[in-house]
Amino acid sequence: MSQEVRGIVAMAKGEPVSMQTIIIPDPGPGEAVVKVQACGVCHTDLHYREGGINDEFPFLLGHEAAGIVESVGEGVTQVAPGDYVILNWRAVCGECRSCLKGKPQYCFDTHNATQKMTLADGTELSPALGIGAFCDKTLVAAGQCTKVDPAAKPEAAGLLGCGVMAGIGAAINTGEVGRGDTVAVFGCGGVGNAAIEGSRIAGAAKIIAVDIDDAKLELAKTFGATHTVNSSKVDPVETIRGFTDGNGVDVAIEAIGLPQTYEQAFYARDLAGTVVLVGVPNPEMKIELPYIEMFGRGGALKSSWYGDCLPSRDFPMLIDLYLQGRLNLDGFVSETIELDQVEEAFHKMEGGGVLRSVVVL
Ligand code: APR
Ligand code: ZN
Ligand code: ZN
Repeated sequence: MSQEVRGIVAMAKGEPVSMQTIIIPDPGPGEAVVKVQACGVCHTDLHYREGGINDEFPFLLGHEAAGIVESVGEGVTQVAPGDYVILNWRAVCGECRSCLKGKPQYCFDTHNATQKMTLADGTELSPALGIGAFCDKTLVAAGQCTKVDPAAKPEAAGLLGCGVMAGIGAAINTGEVGRGDTVAVFGCGGVGNAAIEGSRIAGAAKIIAVDIDDAKLELAKTFGATHTVNSSKVDPVETIRGFTDGNGVDVAIEAIGLPQTYEQAFYARDLAGTVVLVGVPNPEMKIELPYIEMFGRGGALKSSWYGDCLPSRDFPMLIDLYLQGRLNLDGFVSETIELDQVEEAFHKMEGGGVLRSVVVL
């Protein structure tokens, strides 16, 4: 029996989102229905609404969520009704060339639910990142459900499902930040602060936060930034060198997605250091760097997809650290809101005042 629930939908490009009745089918083979308990508001949701991802309106928004598995379809063994899960948007296939090479964190064929959720009139919905969790319940592929310790509050836990994982993973997985390393993070929004937090738990000796907004830099200190640079006032490359005996950092993480800040990250790193790009550029952007510098400075230029995370490995581990008081997830929850306040939260996000508004259901 399908069920009717409430959900937040972007019906058309640029229009305010609205609350709609959503029809959730019973889970089919390999699928699960999850009762959503909390879901963070991310820039990607706004991007969908603005038509920046694709034109497959209407979109059922929301994708940084935690909840309880309500029912599972045929053949599902990895989760069962009652399990507390974080939803991930990269359900690993186990069969593609990357999975077969033992690198499931890069899986090239991740999957979502096969059946569609619909509006009451039968219009098929496109769930944001294959999740769609600004909704009382959602239908996902069972592999998108990652079991974690139910002692973790859903509003904090759900954030690991996207932006916070991307930032932490950019530091610990992609950048391989280690004990004693020096790190610079460009951009101190949700993703950049998570990269700062990731660097802190990895044991970095110096963590330099770079932003153009002093309020964001103050916030960065609460996550573990040891130094801050307002790059609208001083030259960030020179300042970072000054903080590191004239050398630059071991790992420079770009968490904005702009060519100019990528260039700053490129030059702010020490010889043989690593640049990690976790900010997402737009398709028009181009970058020009002296070719000789790419060779001469050595090291690695890496991109971080979803923090190169493997949800089954990283989510439970990070939740355990959170429950031990060693990982600050609560700091990312700027406010909790009702389901019908998503549009308002988009405006706050554009204003830059919040890291995450989180819908609690
Ligand atoms: N130099 C330094 N900091 C900048 C600059 C700049 N030129 N432009 C913007 N910033 C800062 C903003 O002040 C803000 O604190 O970058 C931060 C960006 O934060 P958010 O807008 O909150 O974005 P966030 O959710 O952290 O995502 C950052 O990562 O995953 C990607 O798509 C995401 O590209 C986006 C990036
Ligand atoms: Zn795969
Ligand atoms: Zn997101």
